[in-house]
Amino acid sequence: MTSPIRTERHDDILVIISDNPPVNALGAAVRTGLEGAIKQGVADASIAAMVIRCDGRTFFAGADITEFGKPPVEPLLPTLVDMIEASSKPVVAAIHGTAFGGGCEVAIGCHYRIAVPSAKLGTPEVKLGLLPGAGGTQRLPRLAGVALALELTAKGDPISAKKALDAGLIDRLAGEDSLEADAIAFANEVKTKRPIPRASEREVAADADAVASFKKDNARRFRGFEAPAANIACVEKATSSSFADGIAFERQEFMRLMMGVQSAAQRHIFFAERQASKIDDVPADIPLRPIARVGVIGAGTMGGGISMNFLSAGIPVTIVEMQAEALDRGTGTMRRNYEATAAKGRMKPEQVEAAMAALKPTLDFADLAECDLIIEAVYENMDVKKEIFTKLDGIAKPGAILASNTSYLDIDEIAAVTARPQDVVGMHFFSPANVMKLLEVVRGEKTAGDVLATVMALAKKIRKVAVVAGVTYGFIGNRMLMPRQVEATKLLLEGATPEQIDRVHVAFGMPMGPFQMADLAGVDIGWHRDPTRIENIRDALAAENRWGQKTKAGFYDYDEKRTPSNSARVAEIIDDFRKREGVTPREITEDEIVARTLYTMVNEGALILEEGKAQRASDIDVVWIYGYGWPVYRGGPMFWAQSEGLAKVVAGLEQYGFPVARSLKDAASSGGRLK
Ligand code: 3HC
Repeated sequence: MTSPIRTERHDDILVIISDNPPVNALGAAVRTGLEGAIKQGVADASIAAMVIRCDGRTFFAGADITEFGKPPVEPLLPTLVDMIEASSKPVVAAIHGTAFGGGCEVAIGCHYRIAVPSAKLGTPEVKLGLLPGAGGTQRLPRLAGVALALELTAKGDPISAKKALDAGLIDRLAGEDSLEADAIAFANEVKTKRPIPRASEREVAADADAVASFKKDNARRFRGFEAPAANIACVEKATSSSFADGIAFERQEFMRLMMGVQSAAQRHIFFAERQASKIDDVPADIPLRPIARVGVIGAGTMGGGISMNFLSAGIPVTIVEMQAEALDRGTGTMRRNYEATAAKGRMKPEQVEAAMAALKPTLDFADLAECDLIIEAVYENMDVKKEIFTKLDGIAKPGAILASNTSYLDIDEIAAVTARPQDVVGMHFFSPANVMKLLEVVRGEKTAGDVLATVMALAKKIRKVAVVAGVTYGFIGNRMLMPRQVEATKLLLEGATPEQIDRVHVAFGMPMGPFQMADLAGVDIGWHRDPTRIENIRDALAAENRWGQKTKAGFYDYDEKRTPSNSARVAEIIDDFRKREGVTPREITEDEIVARTLYTMVNEGALILEEGKAQRASDIDVVWIYGYGWPVYRGGPMFWAQSEGLAKVVAGLEQYGFPVARSLKDAASSGGRLK
């Protein structure tokens, strides 16, 4: 096998080049090649300095994550980085693209760094439940100070080359198109300079204030995660120990995290997210339909949010409403949302104007004829949707993709009213649509492969994580929500309180429990609106106008600032209901809540897989992580079930009398996996 590493001589400068597509991950072959090339440069008396650079779209984007969990192969990355740093001849890192993780560690193991202005540097290991384990936690603070090292390692967000320059993490910027030449010139400048600057030989002072305020500012973000604290501890260690002791501590913490279930979960999600964009039976190279303009029907909360996704990505939108007032209200809300983003410094005023200028509000349905993709986002009513799609069929240009944002309704039934069911697809955005990352792409029976592929590719462009779902009531996410809601309400009747159930879910890591979510979404959602018909506790609440946060009362009471408190009235309502049903309340344990509100979701997920309504178990995990805030460190419901033990899940379901999905039972008894 040819090595991904080659060298080129430029007089007395040895340029070491990696070509390991797609992202120059530092796999075994790359490490071996780099080790050999550095040795060659050091040994060759006619070489004065070296440059390390990468071909393709990026500098090393990190260790090769696919090697994790497998037996280690020499040379290990930390050893390689130490060897580069120990070189008796200066080594310059020439950076473009993303110098991430192990790539960033190689760069700071080099003696000098030069980067193109568009490059980014970062250590995102924490997002994989890890820490930079090739000396990064010890070299970063020594080069850039404690505060920035904490930001980089414990939060894992990258910084621009400019910021890296200001922080002393890189030495200079190269021309955007002249990286190699500029790096060689830099190497020529420094080739005789002594002593050679080595990050490990520097010292960094402790900064207790920076650590304390960093912890305080990020407490919410880090809740439940193990890796941030380990990153912080390593950075602190750099300020109090020798480099060698710091490295030993980093190694120990890295191995501890690597063996843990959180990192396994987060690595699972990294690959699951990328896998989700692949459609099993559609060729990866299928020609896509061009999408130059998007149409959105409905300027309500959903329609507005959906439109913003495209406008922000530079794709013009035609938005249609029936009444001028609703249209003005909708576009006004979009502008206000953009302006709020700009006020927080996350958008420039001119970007707000550019986005709004690309929006064409209209009352004329016929204007949709110019659109390549039209998304219907009106309220959930099959008759209304059918009427709209019938109209669209007459207006849309041939080949235009016709999408519905329905969250429950049958896409096939909607498609059947058109003469082009192959062009019809579901695009289920999650609210707020301009913020939530998930997009369920609903594949109808007749949806064409290129339509599906086009929508999946477009989703990436608007920075969504898209998952393909089949036609089934509630698709993947909302269908799995149903057993949870039903069981949570039954548990109330049997003796639990809303706060008890919510507490279990929040402790599990969910952003909120089922009743907090009901109060936020609206207790009246799906209510029959007949106050005399009280069939369950939800009906009883709705009948008393306890519709949730919007009426300042739901499963909880709310004050002016929407701070919740337990409600005596709700306790009474639940009690009345128990009496009416002849139920004597009993003690409900945490295990029962977990089995009935979480295991039941796993069971529903297994049914979805059996029915072929999701392509793979990991897609279900992606839906729950990105659509409902399932804690990423638990890897999504299907991964979590696996780590919980499928036999335990099955036993829990059986204990409470649930019919268990065949595939779940089979996987549990054979020790297999849900696929
Ligand atoms: N190892 C192995 N494969 C990787 C990889 C890595 N570090 N990074 C990306 N890939 C793969 C992806 O799985 C994907 O494969 P696929 O095409 O088969 O699905 C392919 O490369 C392209 O990746 P993306 O689709 O993500 O491409 P983008 O252009 O959108 O993004 C990127 C590029 C910003 C580099 C992004 O891939 C990324 O963030 N990668 C991970 C970076 C990272 O976490 N690095 C740290 C690794 S851990 C480490 O270094 C430990 C060390 O401290 C000891």
